[in-house]
Amino acid sequence: MKLIAPSILSADFARLGDEVMAVEAAGADWIHVDVMDGRYVPNITIGPLVVKAVRSVTSLPVDAHLMIMEPERYVAEFVQAGADLVAVHAEASVHLNRTIQLIKGLGARAGVALNPSTPLSVLDWVLDDLDLVVIMSVNPGFGGQQFIPNSLDKVRALKQRITERGLATQIQVDGGVNEKTIRDVSAAGTDVFVAGSAVFGSSNYKTTIATLRKLANE
Ligand code: DX5
Ligand code: ZN
Repeated sequence: MKLIAPSILSADFARLGDEVMAVEAAGADWIHVDVMDGRYVPNITIGPLVVKAVRSVTSLPVDAHLMIMEPERYVAEFVQAGADLVAVHAEASVHLNRTIQLIKGLGARAGVALNPSTPLSVLDWVLDDLDLVVIMSVNPGFGGQQFIPNSLDKVRALKQRITERGLATQIQVDGGVNEKTIRDVSAAGTDVFVAGSAVFGSSNYKTTIATLRKLANE
């Protein structure tokens, strides 16, 4: 099944609860929360407090994308705040296997995100343990950037590895997903589509999510 995960990074933060409820009512499948620390990426966003607030207004799975250094230090707080899935960057966690086991041990689903320049080979010895791989199709830090086309090759190669190993690991693509790019992103093998500006920048969330879903299923 193809899933649409609006990123609240592009929501109106002064009305965050309403925005989350609006995308849920509009048919969103997951709520994607972009956590940035100003060190791993050149932007600062939100932390566990906001995840907790989001959790309190939605019954959808909350997907926390940690763009922070040493994410293992904060994983427990995000799970306690209500994140169902925690994704850490492979580049930011020295003991990636341990961090994945930590997330799963806390009862959450575990994801690993890869920057556009990071090879898939960093996943060779952890892929079997992962619920989700996040392929970054922009350099993380900001919403509204342009999709990097060679991400499609990466998704195709990852899909092949997942299929070869007979895994249920889902592929998420994050960055520059919109009505123009989603068809190709889907055809490459993506299961979960993060869409920030494409959803929150639109005037009708319901129509936009329905269109994205339709294009992803073509
Ligand atoms: C980038 C974030 C993305 C971003 C996507 O650092 O991880 O989730 O919000 O935004 P759009 O969909 O606008 O490219
Ligand atoms: Zn993200």
